[in-house]
Amino acid sequence: MISLTYGNDTHTCEPGESVLAVLLRSNVDVPYSCRAGACHSCLLRRSDGAVPASSQPGLKPTLREQNYFLACQLVPDEDISVSLPDDALVTGHAIVVGLEHLNKDICRVLLEPATPLYYHAGQYINLRRQDGLARSYSLASVPSVDKHLELHVRRLDNGRMSNWINDVLQVGDQLDFHGPYGDCFYLPDAEEQDLLLIGTGTGLAPLMGIARDALRSQHRGDIHLFHGSRTIRDLYLDRCLRELAEGHPNFHYRACVTGEDAVDEVRHGRANEIAFSEFPDLNAKRVYLCGLPAMVNTARKIAYLNGAAMENIMADAFEMTDLRKEERTERE
Ligand SMILES: Cc1cc2nc3c(=O)[nH]c(=O)nc-3n(C[C@H](O)[C@H](O)[C@H](O)COP(=O)(O)OP(=O)(O)OC[C@H]3O[C@@H](n4cnc5c(N)ncnc54)[C@H](O)[C@@H]3O)c2cc1C
Ligand code: FES
Repeated sequence: MISLTYGNDTHTCEPGESVLAVLLRSNVDVPYSCRAGACHSCLLRRSDGAVPASSQPGLKPTLREQNYFLACQLVPDEDISVSLPDDALVTGHAIVVGLEHLNKDICRVLLEPATPLYYHAGQYINLRRQDGLARSYSLASVPSVDKHLELHVRRLDNGRMSNWINDVLQVGDQLDFHGPYGDCFYLPDAEEQDLLLIGTGTGLAPLMGIARDALRSQHRGDIHLFHGSRTIRDLYLDRCLRELAEGHPNFHYRACVTGEDAVDEVRHGRANEIAFSEFPDLNAKRVYLCGLPAMVNTARKIAYLNGAAMENIMADAFEMTDLRKEERTERE
């Protein structure tokens, strides 16, 4: 039987169980969110040996070398001792300097980090509340242009973190964060290449960052941004994106809604389907996909089948555990 040691306690691993599953089954209070290797909130460190690379997707080399891993991605095949990350190494601190309700359900959060954060627009950070609850939010800000980190947080029904941010968080509060993480950002290696950006909901946040970063970098290819939502009211940066398009001849914006009829310049249908019908040949394009996992995963396949090279498909699926079928624990 394989054993897992965490702090002073040792737990028994069931066959096929991840480190995260063992700890949660044993009622150990560790941060987690997506359970799918996407959010990095379950970062732990092995203290008694190496971990397989498959448990370290997207981690910085410095963290990989120190045997940090994602607890939801490691199924131990031998006895193992693990601990929470060294706070000084991975935790940043920031003050909330701005909160703006962009619509009924979406809040723009501006953060001033205590020390400068080196990041790319479109990456994400994991915000941590004082009780340890951690969730990922994408960076809409562009480091060389914007003074503050900008996040767009959409309220989910009964969502713990998103409702707390929308209703309770105040300007002046301090937040801890881990990151940045993720490799969905603008690469200035092909300035003539056309970019196709497709996002649903707050999947617009990283795409705004990426589009503005590309424009700031004098990108010469066309940049087509498709934003999808259910209703016209949910197109929360519609005016701002139209103004961006008016000011930049190579930036093009399409708004798409699924729950209402087409009106004026707003199209009816799924953003990914409308984008791929306008651009059936993706051979020479770079494609960015952000937002709902169902959209991202479907669109990634179609983009590949329509000719985009794998290395030209950058995606961030906003994976989250749908807790509705489970009883909520004290913190989760
Ligand atoms: C890489 C990445 C980037 C992301 N970027 C963004 C971003 O930029 N903006 C953004 O808004 N989000 C983003 N997300 C999603 C975000 O991390 C959170 O998952 C989201 O805000 C929900 O967190 P929550 O704590 O509010 O919801 P949770 O409390 O985690 O709830 C999760 C689900 O359970 C449902 N639920 C409803 N009722 C109950 C109940 N009674 N008991 C239990 N569960 C219930 C909730 O509705 C929700 O669907 C990103 C995710 C990832 C992985
Ligand atoms: S990466 Fe493990 S819970 Fe999200």
